[in-house]
Amino acid sequence: MSQGVARPAPVVAIVGATGAVGVELLRCLEKRRFPLSQLRLFASARSAGRTLPFCGEALPVSELQEDSFTGVGIALFSAGAATSRRFAPLAVRAGATVIDNSSAFRMDPAVPLVVPEINADALREHRGIIANPNCCAIISITPLWPVQRANRIMRLMLATYQAASGAGAAAMEELREATRAYLDGRAYQQRVLPHPYAFNLFSHNTRIDPLTGYNEEETKVIQETRKIFGDPDIRVSATCVRVPVLRAHSVAITFECTRPITPGQVRELLQGAPGVRLVDDAERNHFPMPQDASGEDAILVGRIRQDVSDPQGRSIALFVAGDQLLKGAALNAVQIAEAL
Ligand SMILES: NC(=O)c1ccc[n+]([C@@H]2O[C@H](COP(=O)([O-])OP(=O)(O)OC[C@H]3O[C@@H](n4cnc5c(N)ncnc54)[C@H](OP(=O)(O)O)[C@@H]3O)[C@@H](O)[C@H]2O)c1
Repeated sequence: MSQGVARPAPVVAIVGATGAVGVELLRCLEKRRFPLSQLRLFASARSAGRTLPFCGEALPVSELQEDSFTGVGIALFSAGAATSRRFAPLAVRAGATVIDNSSAFRMDPAVPLVVPEINADALREHRGIIANPNCCAIISITPLWPVQRANRIMRLMLATYQAASGAGAAAMEELREATRAYLDGRAYQQRVLPHPYAFNLFSHNTRIDPLTGYNEEETKVIQETRKIFGDPDIRVSATCVRVPVLRAHSVAITFECTRPITPGQVRELLQGAPGVRLVDDAERNHFPMPQDASGEDAILVGRIRQDVSDPQGRSIALFVAGDQLLKGAALNAVQIAEAL
């Protein structure tokens, strides 16, 4: 019998290592003991010379250059769509497999868009680039997948409560500073987000499509749900809102299945489902909250109830909260790398 030859652990690169997602990528690789022979960190020229902690060492951050990918096996990108568009093809040409957190390639039919709990099979078709989905899409639909498999979802309506962390490290700092200024009675001029953030909320800070009236975040959730579920006919509508929460997104979800479904059936389907934890204690009024979800790998799901506006009994309402820096970004990317 022939013995399998163990493949050497790859060199891994993180592009955007100093960002909100980037530092979580480092933590996930360390926590999950991802097998790698070397970790290389890249960011913009602003960060060159900084170090970041990894496995007890201080790793240097280098400025991303066109020749940064020589010898790299896996490149985890989280530095915005423009950087991905320019550098991901160079990384692939140098022999790396790219896992990209940006929106640059998500809707490219040749690029798999993967949540490992849902469609790990799609990884087989990759041609060098794999896209990590939008954070709200991941957090909303990972808990719906067991339902989708048992009783196809025909229609899905989402309303998001999105944290500052979704807009990066600078937005988190803006929320801290704006809140301090508000409480001190000082004027504060926001620099990162378009509206006053402390003790306020506003429609998601992306461009509105004049034809549909949906903003880019809502459009991403709608389109990406269809691609990840492999179901072009699922009807999806979303309202995306930025709320003054530091970290972890929440989503109010209502969905309509093909056949009648009860909250008990949904609870049963979600009990022990991968990537999901039920937090559904009506007696103590304890349901998913961003503070509980922060730093957690699992997406919290609760408030599971019949949607009483559907006389056919095919609709369920529920509420989820998930750390979008983890399952909505870094953790999902590292899970993809593990699946590879
Ligand atoms: N935040 C989330 O929850 C989330 C979720 C899913 C996907 N994403 C996506 O992940 C990406 C990063 O998001 P983030 O929230 O981590 O943003 P962030 O906190 O603003 O970090 C951006 C990172 O990109 C680096 N960068 C910027 N321009 C660069 C350039 N020209 N060359 C090389 N590196 C560059 C920055 O380096 P410097 O520190 O040197 O500026 C920093 O490391 C974005 O594409 C975002 O859409 C974010």
